[in-house]
Amino acid sequence: MNKRKLIVANWKMNLNTSQASMLLHRLHERIRIHRDIEVVLAPSMLTLQPLSVQIDRRKFRLAAQNAHHKDEGAYTGEVSFTMLQDLVHYAIIGHSERRIYFEESLETVRDKVAASIRNDITPLLCIGETDIEHREGQTRQVLHDQIVSGLADVSSTDVKEMVIAYEPVWAISTFGGKLAKPSDIKPIFDFIRNQVKDLYGPKAAKEIRVLYGGSVDDQTARGYLEIEGCDGVLVGGASLNYVKFSGIVSSAYRMLNEKDDQSEK
Ligand code: 13P
Repeated sequence: MNKRKLIVANWKMNLNTSQASMLLHRLHERIRIHRDIEVVLAPSMLTLQPLSVQIDRRKFRLAAQNAHHKDEGAYTGEVSFTMLQDLVHYAIIGHSERRIYFEESLETVRDKVAASIRNDITPLLCIGETDIEHREGQTRQVLHDQIVSGLADVSSTDVKEMVIAYEPVWAISTFGGKLAKPSDIKPIFDFIRNQVKDLYGPKAAKEIRVLYGGSVDDQTARGYLEIEGCDGVLVGGASLNYVKFSGIVSSAYRMLNEKDDQSEK
């Protein structure tokens, strides 16, 4: 069962190819390999190919930020999961920026999750409520709908490999960036696993990886990583800064090493 801590950098629509290559170089210098940590970089579509050549695969894996749900065809301007198959391990699907700015519906997200799995790419399904939904007490209903629809075409075998990232929209730096308290996130994580349990049973609920995202940086990462049942973090703004992002990986590193030390005592 793969339960390594997953630290994902979502570079969003930032960095041209040479800037991305420079950032990768800096991260490579600072990040050490840890058997229980997986570091994933999600650069722009344009940059995936050159980075895939440059990358040290023992240290980093690549993710796409999006792709089209059809495998091929007359969809001008789009890139399919089929085309990304040899380049990426993961694909971020249903990010709130895609749901909000590009009006991606629950059905589109469902089809992208299915396309990703069909093409042997692990989906990283993003879910999260907006500020208004949060204030009106609709968080659980929104997450329920996003989970049930997002997983509608996923088999019980495939779901165990998947990743769900809980990113409350109000906590994302560019949407307001209110800092969520880890103690407030814990019950939501339990809720998410319970939803998976209702759909697929306890084993899947335990095995699926659940991440937190929303204004995570080198100062706050550990608080989230320590939440019971948190398998990692999805980082936006801070992932563009090599000091901050490598600091987040170091937080995970220190936490795991302290746990190892304690278990040896
Ligand atoms: P920030 O870390 O900038 O809040 O972005 C979070 C995010 O959207 C990652 O996918």
